[in-house]
Amino acid sequence: MADQSSFLTTRFGGYFHRNVPQEDTELTHVGPGTPCGEYMRRYWQPMCFSDELQDLPIRVKLLGEELVAFRDFSGAVGLLELHCPHRGTSLEFGLVSDHGIRCCYHGWLFDVDGAILETPGEPADSTLKDRLCHGAYPTHEYNGIVFAYMGPPDTKPAFPIYDSYTRPGYRLIPGRKYFYPCNWLQILENAMDPVHTAFLHTIVSGSQFTDEFGEVPALDFLETPVGMLYVATRRVDENVWARMVEIVAPNLQQVAPVWEDGKVEHPGEGAMMSRWIVPVDNTNTMFIEFRHVNETEGATPEWWGNRDIMLPGQLPLETYEASQRQPGDYEAQVGQRPIAIHGLEHLGATDRGITMFRRQLRRGIRAVAEGRDPDGLFRQDGMVVPTYCNDTVVHIAPAETHEADQKLMRDTGWKLAQSYLEQPPFSNGQS
Ligand code: FES
Ligand SMILES: [Fe+2]
Repeated sequence: MADQSSFLTTRFGGYFHRNVPQEDTELTHVGPGTPCGEYMRRYWQPMCFSDELQDLPIRVKLLGEELVAFRDFSGAVGLLELHCPHRGTSLEFGLVSDHGIRCCYHGWLFDVDGAILETPGEPADSTLKDRLCHGAYPTHEYNGIVFAYMGPPDTKPAFPIYDSYTRPGYRLIPGRKYFYPCNWLQILENAMDPVHTAFLHTIVSGSQFTDEFGEVPALDFLETPVGMLYVATRRVDENVWARMVEIVAPNLQQVAPVWEDGKVEHPGEGAMMSRWIVPVDNTNTMFIEFRHVNETEGATPEWWGNRDIMLPGQLPLETYEASQRQPGDYEAQVGQRPIAIHGLEHLGATDRGITMFRRQLRRGIRAVAEGRDPDGLFRQDGMVVPTYCNDTVVHIAPAETHEADQKLMRDTGWKLAQSYLEQPPFSNGQS
């Protein structure tokens, strides 16, 4: 019997299917020193919301590292290694101070940059504190989210301001933070899998978005200067609706509004949210988002401006049975195993975006491994970086046949995407 371990061809052949290959460690593992972990550490990563940093420190885990975050009484934000360098007590029990944080055990005081300011139990002439630093990472606050840079100090990039943050007529608000117990990559890949909205979010679970999402779209995928886009084009009566969702390297997704129905013609309208998929460790992941709220009354549904309300289908339901009866993104993605195993997949025609994204990611990871800057990293402070996520609805009457109309839709979406690549819809890249 030929080896059927990866592609089974025998009915009742479970017996032959027992070799489980390892996950793709190059793309999925994120700890210090791993290829993907080093890649992720070249970019600013969101860590928590500004308003979580009150009078108590918070314990955070990012890219496999145990850390403590706090805002000292001078207003400076610190992100330090969790365990005190004296004898290892967790600084989550530390005392936030005028400058830095003080360990609860013997009172050593650490500044936000890791300088040791005081070692109270040591003799007055001790030089220990002057010779030693505690591990610290730079932070940057922007519009209610605190970002951290965990890479080599001499390669710290500029903090990127994406043009979606500064769109005239829109307010940017911090949204929600939540966690999935699985690897980051299978979550982010979902952004390049628009076909699942037609099945998971519509047929399986009843229309979680608008009914128009139930139609399987004509599909294209393309690379942008900062990442990649899918172009999902659907027919809505006399209109063609092109929806473009993007990944911005390394782990930001910008998602077009889920309340769009394609019924009213309009030029490109941008993202409803900018959401990062941040690896906590290899098998746990944090989502953290900005929401984009149109200032014009009624243009954005009211619930989206309310941070307490979640996007539907994102969290597990209250009971196991309810999750089985109405699965959403959580069940689908966590259900791919703690780390999805690419060696067992059978990718089809609609998975072109997944393949393209993995190729792009591997390119970035290898650039870092070879000592080069990966794509999507910027060194010019204050630069506004063009992005491409949008919904566009144009009036185009249907073609004569279904096939001709499919082609017409795909051509329309493709042309729109190309025009946006040439002329970014929300900025010209100037600061
Ligand atoms: S363990 Fe932190 S000061 Fe001693
Ligand atoms: Fe989804």
